[in-house]
Amino acid sequence: MANVLTALQPSGILHIGNYFGAIEPLVQLQNEGHRNVLFCVDYHAITVAQDPTQLRKNMLFAIATYLAAGVDPEKTILFQQSRVSEHTELGWVLNCIASMGELERMTQYKDKARGKGENVSVGLFDYPILMAADILLYDTEIVPIGEDQKQHVELARDLAERFNKRFGQTFVIPKPQIRQQGARIMGLDDPEHKMSKSAASEKNYISLMDDEKTVAKKIASAVTDSESTIVYDVNRKGLANLMTMYSLVTGMTMIEIETMYQGKGYGDFKKGLAQAITDYLKPMQEKINGYLTDEASLKQILDLGAEKAKHLAQTKMKLVREKIGVQL
Ligand code: ADP
Ligand code: TRP
Repeated sequence: MANVLTALQPSGILHIGNYFGAIEPLVQLQNEGHRNVLFCVDYHAITVAQDPTQLRKNMLFAIATYLAAGVDPEKTILFQQSRVSEHTELGWVLNCIASMGELERMTQYKDKARGKGENVSVGLFDYPILMAADILLYDTEIVPIGEDQKQHVELARDLAERFNKRFGQTFVIPKPQIRQQGARIMGLDDPEHKMSKSAASEKNYISLMDDEKTVAKKIASAVTDSESTIVYDVNRKGLANLMTMYSLVTGMTMIEIETMYQGKGYGDFKKGLAQAITDYLKPMQEKINGYLTDEASLKQILDLGAEKAKHLAQTKMKLVREKIGVQL
């Protein structure tokens, strides 16, 4: 059994790439019996401007989605980052042992700050330190994340090692767990790049909340090729991506899909895929909507989660205060 922890930013849309890439694997780890911690990083989200009303909505939507996806608050500590103030407190302490140079090397910061000049927020620069605090507070051993977050977890490792060396054993050294290539869903309108909510067109992604008509339209216009057979081939990137989605939502193997569509073309295949996606999403959408009608229960789940998280975080923070000499 390991201590597993991950977090997601509360952004409005969750697409099926986020779902199969990040949420489903987490539910799997939860069901394998690991100690699981999952939270919504609202204080990371505000490193770029957020509309307060929308942020609140996005947070409730994210929590409803995790629950609908099978996150069980009895097994996973599920909460909201801002409710456990030890995250920002440890963030401050780690700020004082991290160097400017280390943060300046973070590629996500460089990408996000490009072109913004002096107007970029201090929070965006400091974002990886808060993430290190998120991880180190809970004796985390495994952090399931996408490739883009690897450098941040490595920083958390470096800071933990430096702190332990300077003040004595305090933090567990975490390891990133990068999911398999297969869970990287590509854009429908651009199979060369990953499906992303920040894509230029809505035709890039299937949102978890897309209705039957929208799914059918998006799949019908998905980029494929001029061949006519339905055969899995990594070089036929558009079709391979659609077949991957087919397999994820139905549990069928590529061979079973090929057999099913032998002698048929893209028209039939795309209709079948759109139907399969809708059949997969509908029950989840009903669950999400159900959870959203009962805000009080959602908040109660978050309250309980915050309490459990706070208990762990306070213990660690007390030790940190002792180690650095501020505890009288
Ligand atoms: P986006 O690129 O859509 O803004 P985020 O950066 O918010 O997504 O990612 C949230 C989580 O979802 C991360 O753990 C990331 O690795 C995962 N993820 C994002 N896009 C995909 C995708 N197309 N396929 C698989 N996983 C993805
Ligand atoms: N930075 C992560 C992202 O954008 C979110 C995140 C914040 C996180 N704190 C974390 C992920 C701790 C894993 C562990 O996707």
